[in-house]
Amino acid sequence: MTKHTVTITDNKTGKSIECPVHEGTYGPPVIDTKTLYSGLGMFTLDPGFLTTASCRSKITFLDGEKGILLHRGYPIEQLAEHSTYLEVCYLLLYGELPTRRQYEEFEAQVKFRSNVHERVNHMYAGYLYDAHPMSIMVGVMAALSSYYHEALDLNDPADRDLTAKRVIAKMPTLAAQCYKFAIGHPFVYPNNSLGYVENFLNMMFSHPMSTYTPDPVAVRALDVLLILHADHEQNASTSTVRLSGSAEANPFACIAAGMVSLWGRAHGGANEAVIHMLNEIKTPDNIPKFIARAKDKKDTFRLMGFGHRVYKNFDPRSRVIRKVCYDLLERLPNKVDRALFDTALKLEDIALKDEYFIERKLYPNVDFYSGIILKALGIPLSMFTVIFALGRSVGWIAQWLELMEDPDFKIGRPRQLYNGAEKRDYVPFNQRS
Ligand code: CMC
Repeated sequence: MTKHTVTITDNKTGKSIECPVHEGTYGPPVIDTKTLYSGLGMFTLDPGFLTTASCRSKITFLDGEKGILLHRGYPIEQLAEHSTYLEVCYLLLYGELPTRRQYEEFEAQVKFRSNVHERVNHMYAGYLYDAHPMSIMVGVMAALSSYYHEALDLNDPADRDLTAKRVIAKMPTLAAQCYKFAIGHPFVYPNNSLGYVENFLNMMFSHPMSTYTPDPVAVRALDVLLILHADHEQNASTSTVRLSGSAEANPFACIAAGMVSLWGRAHGGANEAVIHMLNEIKTPDNIPKFIARAKDKKDTFRLMGFGHRVYKNFDPRSRVIRKVCYDLLERLPNKVDRALFDTALKLEDIALKDEYFIERKLYPNVDFYSGIILKALGIPLSMFTVIFALGRSVGWIAQWLELMEDPDFKIGRPRQLYNGAEKRDYVPFNQRS
Protein backbone atom coordinates (compact mmCIF):
# COMPACT_ATOMS: atom_id res chain seq x y z
CA MET A 1 0.00 0.00 0.00
CA THR A 2 1.33 3.48 -0.85
CA LYS A 3 0.50 6.00 1.87
CA HIS A 4 2.91 8.87 1.44
CA THR A 5 5.92 10.01 -0.54
CA VAL A 6 9.48 10.96 0.18
CA THR A 7 11.01 13.95 -1.57
CA ILE A 8 14.53 13.45 -2.78
CA THR A 9 16.35 16.66 -3.63
CA ASP A 10 19.66 16.98 -5.43
CA ASN A 11 21.35 19.77 -3.50
CA LYS A 12 23.64 20.46 -6.46
CA THR A 13 20.95 21.14 -9.06
CA GLY A 14 18.01 21.87 -6.77
CA LYS A 15 15.90 19.34 -8.70
CA SER A 16 13.49 17.18 -6.65
CA ILE A 17 11.44 14.09 -7.21
CA GLU A 18 8.65 12.53 -5.20
CA CYS A 19 9.16 8.84 -4.51
CA PRO A 20 6.19 6.75 -3.38
CA VAL A 21 6.62 4.90 -0.09
CA HIS A 22 5.12 1.41 -0.01
CA GLU A 23 4.04 -0.23 3.21
CA GLY A 24 3.94 -3.98 3.63
CA THR A 25 2.12 -6.04 6.23
CA TYR A 26 5.14 -5.72 8.51
CA GLY A 27 8.62 -4.33 8.27
CA PRO A 28 9.92 -0.86 7.51
CA PRO A 29 8.23 1.08 4.69
CA VAL A 30 10.07 0.94 1.39
CA ILE A 31 10.97 3.93 -0.78
CA ASP A 32 10.27 3.20 -4.44
CA THR A 33 13.24 4.69 -6.25
CA LYS A 34 12.29 3.56 -9.76
CA THR A 35 12.02 7.15 -11.02
CA LEU A 36 15.33 8.26 -9.52
CA TYR A 37 17.25 7.87 -12.76
CA SER A 38 14.63 9.43 -15.02
CA GLY A 39 14.01 12.22 -12.51
CA LEU A 40 17.48 13.03 -11.17
CA GLY A 41 19.79 11.00 -13.41
CA MET A 42 21.10 9.05 -10.41
CA PHE A 43 21.34 5.49 -9.15
CA THR A 44 21.39 4.27 -5.56
CA LEU A 45 24.43 2.53 -4.06
CA ASP A 46 23.91 -0.21 -1.47
CA PRO A 47 26.59 -2.93 -1.60
CA GLY A 48 25.42 -6.06 0.19
CA PHE A 49 21.78 -4.90 -0.08
CA LEU A 50 21.91 -3.49 3.45
CA THR A 51 18.74 -1.44 2.97
CA THR A 52 17.50 -2.43 -0.46
CA ALA A 53 14.43 -4.60 -0.98
CA SER A 54 14.96 -6.64 -4.14
CA CYS A 55 11.34 -7.74 -4.57
CA ARG A 56 7.85 -7.91 -3.10
CA SER A 57 7.16 -11.22 -1.40
CA LYS A 58 4.28 -12.86 0.48
CA ILE A 59 6.20 -15.93 1.59
CA THR A 60 8.38 -15.23 4.62
CA PHE A 61 8.78 -12.35 7.01
CA LEU A 62 11.53 -11.87 9.54
CA ASP A 63 12.06 -9.15 12.08
CA GLY A 64 15.67 -9.19 13.13
CA GLU A 65 15.22 -6.79 16.02
CA LYS A 66 12.46 -8.83 17.64
CA GLY A 67 13.67 -12.28 16.58
CA ILE A 68 10.50 -13.09 14.62
CA LEU A 69 10.29 -15.49 11.69
CA LEU A 70 6.95 -16.12 9.98
CA HIS A 71 6.16 -18.38 7.04
CA ARG A 72 2.96 -17.25 5.32
CA GLY A 73 2.14 -15.61 8.68
CA TYR A 74 2.75 -18.68 10.87
CA PRO A 75 5.48 -18.33 13.54
CA ILE A 76 8.41 -20.70 13.06
CA GLU A 77 8.11 -21.92 16.67
CA GLN A 78 4.55 -23.15 16.01
CA LEU A 79 5.48 -24.79 12.74
CA ALA A 80 8.46 -26.51 14.39
CA GLU A 81 6.26 -27.80 17.17
CA HIS A 82 3.15 -28.87 15.30
CA SER A 83 3.91 -29.24 11.61
CA THR A 84 6.00 -31.46 9.37
CA TYR A 85 8.50 -30.47 6.73
CA LEU A 86 6.25 -31.65 3.91
CA GLU A 87 3.33 -29.67 5.28
CA VAL A 88 5.56 -26.58 5.50
CA CYS A 89 6.50 -27.23 1.86
CA TYR A 90 2.84 -27.08 0.94
CA LEU A 91 2.37 -23.91 2.98
CA LEU A 92 5.33 -22.16 1.38
CA LEU A 93 4.29 -23.15 -2.14
CA TYR A 94 0.56 -22.51 -1.95
CA GLY A 95 0.21 -19.95 0.84
CA GLU A 96 -2.17 -21.89 3.11
CA LEU A 97 -1.99 -24.95 5.34
CA PRO A 98 -3.45 -27.91 3.45
CA THR A 99 -6.61 -29.77 4.37
CA ARG A 100 -5.91 -33.43 5.16
CA ARG A 101 -6.98 -34.39 1.63
CA GLN A 102 -4.80 -31.73 0.01
CA TYR A 103 -1.88 -32.88 2.15
CA GLU A 104 -2.31 -36.52 1.19
CA GLU A 105 -2.54 -35.66 -2.49
CA PHE A 106 0.55 -33.46 -2.26
CA GLU A 107 2.50 -36.14 -0.41
CA ALA A 108 1.50 -38.76 -2.99
CA GLN A 109 2.54 -36.48 -5.86
CA VAL A 110 5.90 -35.74 -4.26
CA LYS A 111 6.54 -39.41 -3.50
CA PHE A 112 5.62 -40.38 -7.06
CA ARG A 113 8.52 -38.22 -8.29
CA SER A 114 11.16 -39.20 -5.75
CA ASN A 115 13.26 -41.34 -8.07
CA VAL A 116 15.84 -39.81 -10.40
CA HIS A 117 16.58 -40.95 -13.93
CA GLU A 118 18.91 -43.94 -13.91
CA ARG A 119 21.42 -42.05 -16.04
CA VAL A 120 21.96 -39.54 -13.22
CA ASN A 121 23.49 -42.41 -11.25
CA HIS A 122 26.32 -42.57 -13.77
CA MET A 123 27.26 -38.95 -13.23
CA TYR A 124 28.84 -39.69 -9.88
CA ALA A 125 31.60 -41.72 -11.50
CA GLY A 126 33.11 -38.50 -12.83
CA TYR A 127 33.74 -37.08 -9.37
CA LEU A 128 36.89 -37.57 -7.37
CA TYR A 129 36.39 -40.18 -4.62
CA ASP A 130 36.68 -37.53 -1.90
CA ALA A 131 34.81 -34.72 -3.67
CA HIS A 132 32.89 -32.45 -1.33
CA PRO A 133 29.23 -33.55 -1.45
CA MET A 134 28.13 -29.98 -2.18
CA SER A 135 30.22 -29.96 -5.36
CA ILE A 136 28.43 -33.13 -6.42
CA MET A 137 25.01 -31.82 -5.42
CA VAL A 138 25.51 -28.72 -7.53
CA GLY A 139 26.45 -30.90 -10.51
CA VAL A 140 23.68 -33.46 -10.24
CA MET A 141 21.00 -30.83 -9.61
CA ALA A 142 22.18 -28.87 -12.64
CA ALA A 143 22.11 -32.13 -14.61
CA LEU A 144 18.39 -32.49 -13.89
CA SER A 145 17.88 -29.45 -16.10
CA SER A 146 18.82 -31.63 -19.06
CA TYR A 147 15.97 -34.03 -18.23
CA TYR A 148 13.41 -31.27 -17.88
CA HIS A 149 14.25 -28.58 -20.38
CA GLU A 150 12.59 -28.74 -23.79
CA ALA A 151 9.30 -30.03 -22.36
CA LEU A 152 9.21 -27.41 -19.61
CA ASP A 153 7.11 -24.37 -20.44
CA LEU A 154 7.99 -21.61 -17.97
CA ASN A 155 4.78 -19.80 -18.88
CA ASP A 156 2.60 -22.74 -17.94
CA PRO A 157 1.54 -22.71 -14.25
CA ALA A 158 1.04 -26.49 -14.29
CA ASP A 159 4.61 -27.03 -15.53
CA ARG A 160 5.96 -24.70 -12.89
CA ASP A 161 4.01 -26.50 -10.18
CA LEU A 162 5.30 -29.85 -11.41
CA THR A 163 8.84 -28.48 -11.29
CA ALA A 164 8.39 -27.46 -7.66
CA LYS A 165 7.20 -30.95 -6.74
CA ARG A 166 10.07 -32.52 -8.65
CA VAL A 167 12.65 -30.43 -6.81
CA ILE A 168 11.20 -31.30 -3.39
CA ALA A 169 10.86 -34.96 -4.35
CA LYS A 170 14.33 -35.46 -5.80
CA MET A 171 16.45 -33.52 -3.33
CA PRO A 172 16.53 -36.29 -0.67
CA THR A 173 17.42 -38.88 -3.29
CA LEU A 174 20.28 -36.82 -4.69
CA ALA A 175 21.53 -35.91 -1.21
CA ALA A 176 21.57 -39.56 -0.09
CA GLN A 177 23.27 -40.61 -3.32
CA CYS A 178 26.07 -38.10 -2.64
CA TYR A 179 26.64 -39.71 0.74
CA LYS A 180 26.51 -43.28 -0.57
CA PHE A 181 28.95 -42.36 -3.32
CA ALA A 182 31.35 -40.88 -0.77
CA ILE A 183 31.40 -44.02 1.36
CA GLY A 184 31.37 -46.43 -1.57
CA HIS A 185 28.01 -48.02 -0.75
CA PRO A 186 25.35 -48.90 -3.32
CA PHE A 187 22.62 -46.32 -3.86
CA VAL A 188 19.36 -47.08 -2.08
CA TYR A 189 16.24 -46.35 -4.11
CA PRO A 190 13.41 -44.28 -2.61
CA ASN A 191 10.78 -46.27 -0.76
CA ASN A 192 7.35 -44.71 -1.14
CA SER A 193 5.92 -46.59 1.81
CA LEU A 194 8.02 -44.36 4.07
CA GLY A 195 7.47 -40.76 5.09
CA TYR A 196 9.58 -38.03 3.50
CA VAL A 197 12.19 -37.83 6.28
CA GLU A 198 12.20 -41.56 7.05
CA ASN A 199 12.73 -42.26 3.38
CA PHE A 200 15.71 -39.91 3.32
CA LEU A 201 17.27 -41.55 6.40
CA ASN A 202 16.60 -44.94 4.85
CA MET A 203 18.38 -43.95 1.63
CA MET A 204 21.26 -42.63 3.74
CA PHE A 205 21.71 -45.46 6.21
CA SER A 206 20.15 -48.68 4.97
CA HIS A 207 22.25 -51.23 3.16
CA PRO A 208 21.31 -54.30 1.10
CA MET A 209 22.99 -56.50 3.73
CA SER A 210 21.03 -55.28 6.73
CA THR A 211 17.74 -53.76 7.73
CA TYR A 212 17.54 -50.24 9.03
CA THR A 213 14.80 -48.79 11.18
CA PRO A 214 15.16 -45.10 11.92
CA ASP A 215 14.55 -43.97 15.47
CA PRO A 216 11.33 -41.87 15.57
CA VAL A 217 13.15 -39.27 17.71
CA ALA A 218 15.84 -38.96 15.04
CA VAL A 219 13.17 -38.68 12.33
CA ARG A 220 11.40 -35.91 14.22
CA ALA A 221 14.67 -34.08 14.98
CA LEU A 222 15.56 -34.03 11.28
CA ASP A 223 12.01 -33.08 10.33
CA VAL A 224 12.23 -30.06 12.65
CA LEU A 225 15.67 -29.16 11.33
CA LEU A 226 14.34 -29.17 7.76
CA ILE A 227 11.39 -26.99 8.81
CA LEU A 228 13.81 -24.49 10.39
CA HIS A 229 15.80 -24.29 7.17
CA ALA A 230 12.83 -24.22 4.79
CA ASP A 231 12.96 -20.55 3.85
CA HIS A 232 14.54 -17.34 5.02
CA GLU A 233 13.35 -14.64 2.60
CA GLN A 234 15.89 -12.87 0.38
CA ASN A 235 19.18 -14.36 1.64
CA ALA A 236 22.19 -14.84 -0.65
CA SER A 237 21.22 -18.24 -2.07
CA THR A 238 17.54 -17.34 -2.56
CA SER A 239 18.52 -14.09 -4.24
CA THR A 240 20.84 -16.12 -6.48
CA VAL A 241 17.93 -18.37 -7.45
CA ARG A 242 15.74 -15.34 -8.14
CA LEU A 243 18.42 -13.58 -10.17
CA SER A 244 19.06 -16.67 -12.29
CA GLY A 245 15.31 -17.23 -12.60
CA SER A 246 14.81 -13.65 -13.75
CA ALA A 247 16.89 -14.51 -16.82
CA GLU A 248 14.34 -17.30 -17.48
CA ALA A 249 16.98 -19.95 -16.90
CA ASN A 250 16.00 -23.57 -16.34
CA PRO A 251 14.68 -23.85 -12.76
CA PHE A 252 16.83 -26.88 -11.88
CA ALA A 253 19.88 -24.90 -12.96
CA CYS A 254 18.60 -21.97 -10.85
CA ILE A 255 18.40 -24.25 -7.81
CA ALA A 256 21.95 -25.45 -8.54
CA ALA A 257 23.06 -21.80 -8.61
CA GLY A 258 21.39 -21.28 -5.22
CA MET A 259 23.31 -24.26 -3.87
CA VAL A 260 26.59 -22.72 -5.00
CA SER A 261 25.84 -19.63 -2.97
CA LEU A 262 24.66 -21.64 0.03
CA TRP A 263 27.92 -23.59 0.07
CA GLY A 264 29.89 -20.50 1.12
CA ARG A 265 31.08 -20.50 4.72
CA ALA A 266 29.42 -17.16 5.44
CA HIS A 267 26.09 -18.78 4.49
CA GLY A 268 25.15 -22.47 4.71
CA GLY A 269 28.73 -23.67 5.00
CA ALA A 270 28.80 -22.33 8.55
CA ASN A 271 27.20 -25.42 10.14
CA GLU A 272 30.20 -27.49 9.07
CA ALA A 273 32.61 -24.76 10.19
CA VAL A 274 30.97 -24.67 13.65
CA ILE A 275 31.84 -28.32 14.32
CA HIS A 276 35.41 -27.77 13.09
CA MET A 277 35.61 -24.83 15.48
CA LEU A 278 34.16 -26.76 18.43
CA ASN A 279 36.57 -29.63 17.74
CA GLU A 280 39.42 -27.15 17.67
CA ILE A 281 38.30 -25.56 20.94
CA LYS A 282 38.22 -29.09 22.43
CA THR A 283 37.37 -28.19 26.03
CA PRO A 284 35.51 -25.25 27.63
CA ASP A 285 38.79 -24.04 29.23
CA ASN A 286 40.02 -23.04 25.78
CA ILE A 287 37.00 -20.87 25.00
CA PRO A 288 38.52 -17.56 26.19
CA LYS A 289 41.43 -18.00 23.75
CA PHE A 290 39.01 -18.40 20.83
CA ILE A 291 36.86 -15.50 21.97
CA ALA A 292 39.99 -13.34 22.06
CA ARG A 293 40.87 -14.46 18.52
CA ALA A 294 37.35 -13.66 17.28
CA LYS A 295 37.70 -10.14 18.68
CA ASP A 296 41.17 -9.57 17.28
CA LYS A 297 40.81 -7.59 14.04
CA LYS A 298 44.22 -8.82 12.83
CA ASP A 299 43.00 -12.42 13.05
CA THR A 300 40.64 -13.65 10.32
CA PHE A 301 39.01 -16.09 12.76
CA ARG A 302 35.32 -15.50 13.50
CA LEU A 303 33.05 -17.36 15.86
CA MET A 304 31.26 -19.58 13.40
CA GLY A 305 27.51 -19.84 13.95
CA PHE A 306 27.49 -16.36 15.45
CA GLY A 307 26.10 -13.19 13.93
CA HIS A 308 23.51 -12.56 11.28
CA ARG A 309 22.83 -9.78 8.82
CA VAL A 310 19.20 -9.48 9.92
CA TYR A 311 18.88 -10.97 13.42
CA LYS A 312 20.17 -8.45 15.92
CA ASN A 313 18.48 -9.83 19.02
CA PHE A 314 18.28 -13.59 18.69
CA ASP A 315 17.72 -16.06 15.92
CA PRO A 316 14.42 -17.82 16.76
CA ARG A 317 15.61 -20.90 14.90
CA SER A 318 18.63 -21.34 17.16
CA ARG A 319 16.37 -21.47 20.25
CA VAL A 320 14.27 -24.26 18.74
CA ILE A 321 17.39 -26.12 17.68
CA ARG A 322 18.98 -25.87 21.11
CA LYS A 323 15.89 -27.51 22.60
CA VAL A 324 15.99 -30.29 19.97
CA CYS A 325 19.65 -30.86 20.89
CA TYR A 326 18.68 -31.47 24.53
CA ASP A 327 15.92 -33.92 23.54
CA LEU A 328 18.01 -35.76 21.00
CA LEU A 329 21.11 -36.16 23.14
CA GLU A 330 18.96 -37.53 25.92
CA ARG A 331 17.56 -40.13 23.54
CA LEU A 332 20.77 -40.94 21.69
CA PRO A 333 23.42 -40.42 24.37
CA ASN A 334 26.89 -40.13 22.97
CA LYS A 335 29.75 -38.78 25.02
CA VAL A 336 31.46 -36.99 22.13
CA ASP A 337 28.30 -35.22 20.97
CA ARG A 338 27.39 -34.30 24.54
CA ALA A 339 30.86 -32.81 25.09
CA LEU A 340 30.51 -30.77 21.88
CA PHE A 341 27.09 -29.55 22.97
CA ASP A 342 28.43 -28.59 26.40
CA THR A 343 31.27 -26.64 24.78
CA ALA A 344 28.76 -24.90 22.49
CA LEU A 345 26.51 -23.98 25.43
CA LYS A 346 29.48 -22.62 27.36
CA LEU A 347 30.72 -20.70 24.33
CA GLU A 348 27.30 -19.12 23.86
CA ASP A 349 27.18 -18.22 27.53
CA ILE A 350 30.60 -16.57 27.54
CA ALA A 351 30.13 -14.76 24.23
CA LEU A 352 26.74 -13.35 25.19
CA LYS A 353 28.29 -11.74 28.27
CA ASP A 354 31.18 -10.26 26.31
CA GLU A 355 31.05 -6.54 25.46
CA TYR A 356 32.32 -7.14 21.89
CA PHE A 357 29.41 -9.46 21.05
CA ILE A 358 26.84 -7.41 22.98
CA GLU A 359 27.83 -4.18 21.23
CA ARG A 360 27.68 -5.76 17.78
CA LYS A 361 24.50 -7.71 18.56
CA LEU A 362 26.08 -11.04 17.68
CA TYR A 363 23.96 -14.04 18.72
CA PRO A 364 24.04 -17.74 17.85
CA ASN A 365 22.41 -18.30 14.48
CA VAL A 366 20.71 -21.38 13.01
CA ASP A 367 24.04 -23.01 12.23
CA PHE A 368 25.40 -22.86 15.74
CA TYR A 369 23.52 -25.90 17.08
CA SER A 370 22.27 -27.59 13.90
CA GLY A 371 25.58 -29.41 13.38
CA ILE A 372 25.31 -31.05 16.79
CA ILE A 373 21.94 -32.51 15.81
CA LEU A 374 23.26 -33.74 12.49
CA LYS A 375 26.30 -35.25 14.15
CA ALA A 376 24.12 -37.03 16.70
CA LEU A 377 22.09 -38.43 13.79
CA GLY A 378 25.24 -39.96 12.34
CA ILE A 379 25.41 -37.55 9.41
CA PRO A 380 29.02 -36.78 8.50
CA LEU A 381 30.34 -33.25 8.61
CA SER A 382 30.76 -32.88 4.87
CA MET A 383 27.02 -33.55 4.42
CA PHE A 384 25.86 -30.76 6.73
CA THR A 385 25.45 -28.11 4.06
CA VAL A 386 23.74 -30.68 1.85
CA ILE A 387 21.11 -31.12 4.57
CA PHE A 388 20.72 -27.34 4.75
CA ALA A 389 20.22 -27.35 0.97
CA LEU A 390 17.68 -30.15 1.26
CA GLY A 391 15.62 -28.08 3.72
CA ARG A 392 16.06 -24.81 1.80
CA SER A 393 15.14 -26.32 -1.59
CA VAL A 394 11.45 -25.60 -0.97
CA GLY A 395 12.20 -21.97 -0.12
CA TRP A 396 14.20 -21.59 -3.32
CA ILE A 397 11.52 -23.08 -5.52
CA ALA A 398 8.67 -21.25 -3.74
CA GLN A 399 10.50 -17.96 -4.28
CA TRP A 400 11.16 -18.91 -7.89
CA LEU A 401 7.44 -19.62 -8.39
CA GLU A 402 6.58 -16.25 -6.85
CA LEU A 403 9.07 -14.53 -9.14
CA MET A 404 7.64 -16.22 -12.23
CA GLU A 405 4.13 -15.08 -11.26
CA ASP A 406 5.20 -11.54 -10.33
CA PRO A 407 3.37 -8.89 -12.43
CA ASP A 408 6.56 -6.77 -12.07
CA PHE A 409 8.72 -9.59 -13.48
CA LYS A 410 11.93 -8.16 -14.92
CA ILE A 411 15.37 -9.54 -15.49
CA GLY A 412 17.50 -8.63 -12.46
CA ARG A 413 20.11 -6.16 -13.54
CA PRO A 414 21.84 -4.18 -10.76
CA ARG A 415 23.59 -0.94 -11.64
CA GLN A 416 27.01 0.16 -10.40
CA LEU A 417 29.14 3.13 -9.48
CA TYR A 418 32.02 2.92 -11.95
CA ASN A 419 35.24 4.23 -10.40
CA GLY A 420 37.76 2.66 -12.75
CA ALA A 421 40.08 4.21 -15.32
CA GLU A 422 38.95 7.02 -17.62
CA LYS A 423 38.67 6.33 -21.35
CA ARG A 424 42.12 5.81 -22.87
CA ASP A 425 43.68 4.47 -26.07
CA TYR A 426 45.05 0.98 -26.60
CA VAL A 427 48.86 0.75 -26.36
CA PRO A 428 50.68 -1.97 -28.38
CA PHE A 429 53.08 -4.31 -26.49
CA ASN A 430 56.22 -2.64 -27.83
CA GLN A 431 55.14 0.75 -26.49
CA ARG A 432 54.25 -0.43 -22.96
CA SER A 433 56.76 0.28 -20.23
N1 CMC B 1 32.69 -13.44 15.09
C1 CMC B 1 33.36 -12.30 15.41
N2 CMC B 1 33.01 -11.09 14.96
C2 CMC B 1 31.94 -11.01 14.15
C3 CMC B 1 31.21 -12.13 13.78
C4 CMC B 1 31.61 -13.39 14.28
N3 CMC B 1 30.95 -14.48 13.95
N4 CMC B 1 30.20 -11.77 12.97
C5 CMC B 1 30.29 -10.45 12.82
N5 CMC B 1 31.36 -9.98 13.55
C6 CMC B 1 31.74 -8.58 13.70
C7 CMC B 1 32.45 -8.06 12.47
O1 CMC B 1 33.85 -8.25 12.56
C8 CMC B 1 32.05 -6.61 12.50
O2 CMC B 1 32.84 -5.97 13.48
P1 CMC B 1 33.29 -4.42 13.27
O3 CMC B 1 32.01 -3.65 13.26
O4 CMC B 1 34.17 -4.13 14.42
O5 CMC B 1 34.01 -4.38 11.97
C9 CMC B 1 30.62 -6.63 13.03
O6 CMC B 1 30.56 -7.82 13.83
C10 CMC B 1 29.56 -6.70 11.92
O7 CMC B 1 29.85 -7.80 11.10
P2 CMC B 1 29.57 -7.87 9.55
O8 CMC B 1 30.48 -8.85 8.92
O9 CMC B 1 29.59 -6.46 9.00
O10 CMC B 1 28.07 -8.36 9.54
P3 CMC B 1 27.30 -8.93 8.29
O11 CMC B 1 25.88 -8.70 8.55
O12 CMC B 1 27.86 -8.40 7.01
O13 CMC B 1 27.65 -10.49 8.31
C11 CMC B 1 27.60 -12.81 8.88
C12 CMC B 1 26.82 -11.47 8.84
C13 CMC B 1 26.62 -13.92 9.19
C14 CMC B 1 28.22 -13.08 7.50
C15 CMC B 1 28.70 -12.69 9.96
O14 CMC B 1 28.12 -12.45 11.23
C16 CMC B 1 29.57 -13.95 10.02
O15 CMC B 1 30.54 -14.07 9.26
N6 CMC B 1 29.24 -14.94 10.91
C17 CMC B 1 29.96 -16.17 10.98
C18 CMC B 1 29.50 -17.11 9.87
C19 CMC B 1 28.12 -17.67 10.14
O16 CMC B 1 27.81 -18.12 11.22
N7 CMC B 1 27.28 -17.70 9.07
C20 CMC B 1 25.94 -18.25 9.14
C21 CMC B 1 24.90 -17.20 8.96
S1 CMC B 1 23.24 -17.75 9.40
C22 CMC B 1 22.82 -18.96 8.29
C23 CMC B 1 22.89 -18.56 6.86
O17 CMC B 1 22.56 -17.45 6.48
O18 CMC B 1 23.25 -19.41 6.07
